[in-house]
Amino acid sequence: EQKRKFLHELPKCEHHVHLEGTLSPDLLFTLAKRNNIELPAHFPSSIELCNDRYEKFTDLQDFLDHYYIGMSVLMTESDFEDLAWDYFVKAKHDGLHHAETFFDPQGHVERGIPIETVVNGFHRASQRAQAELGISTKLIMCLLRHLPSQDGLKTINDAKQFYQDGIIHGLGLDSSEKPFPPELFEECYALAKKNCPEIGLTAHAGEEADPSFISNSLDLLKVTRIDHGVQSYRDDELLKRLAKDKVMLSLCPLSNVKLQVVSDVGELPLRKWLDYGVPFSINSDDPAYFGGYLLDNYLAVESRFNLKPEEWVQITKNSVDGSWIDAARKKQLH
Ligand code: ADE
Ligand code: ZN
Repeated sequence: EQKRKFLHELPKCEHHVHLEGTLSPDLLFTLAKRNNIELPAHFPSSIELCNDRYEKFTDLQDFLDHYYIGMSVLMTESDFEDLAWDYFVKAKHDGLHHAETFFDPQGHVERGIPIETVVNGFHRASQRAQAELGISTKLIMCLLRHLPSQDGLKTINDAKQFYQDGIIHGLGLDSSEKPFPPELFEECYALAKKNCPEIGLTAHAGEEADPSFISNSLDLLKVTRIDHGVQSYRDDELLKRLAKDKVMLSLCPLSNVKLQVVSDVGELPLRKWLDYGVPFSINSDDPAYFGGYLLDNYLAVESRFNLKPEEWVQITKNSVDGSWIDAARKKQLH
């Protein structure tokens, strides 16, 4: 219908998609077979059982417990390349123009996969997406906050050359939020910035944990963007700060419902962010797990908030401006 066409044609950017979160049950079982991976007995044993499991995540941790097992089927450079390439093709179909994609090297290195295998695979797919699909791309390496910061420091140093060669552009922080506050990673962010002064810094904050995780990410980690940031609505001063400093929130509406951050997309405080002038983008997070890709997230928001076309244009404009791209590329997208 008409709304779908309108949303499809907006020049969309995605800033919050975990490439490992684009692993569909179909590809998961194909790779498990090809790579001779024996999944644990409690893991769903078929595509249907996986899909059933995805309807019942109780919270972030419950999802992550499944997710880290799922990603263990990725072994070779072409596994990583194929995974990311399939995402770019799907996203192109959804009307995506620019993608800043997360990946979790520690989730692979701890299984004995060299970081080079992971990065080279994702980089090849990104290069192909630029050349063949016209999508501009950036890779954002995330640290797993449930692992010690020493491990994070080592990962940052192991990735140093990729940053200096412009193959990885950003640093993020993900995984179990509440027990692992941003202050644990101050040194990691400082080291990454020292290794590569042009780096883009972001962190998951305020998905489940309180607004202080957002302010502390800004103050201590010096991030210029916040992933999720849903809980910011509880702190008026913080909302003013986000608006004034143009700190973009990368929202993931369908994810928030699946992980029970809210019980319905309509519960998200979207009006409040719009009224305060807090910039945000709309994203898919882990689309293979949460029942929808980029355009589905746009459609879910539209179905609940019935935004005016000019509001959508402003949201997309903010999302271009919050992207880590140069002025020339921004101009193309506006
Ligand atoms: N890893 C993948 N998806 C995530 C999310 N929504 N929050 C934290 N860590 C994640
Ligand atoms: Zn995420």
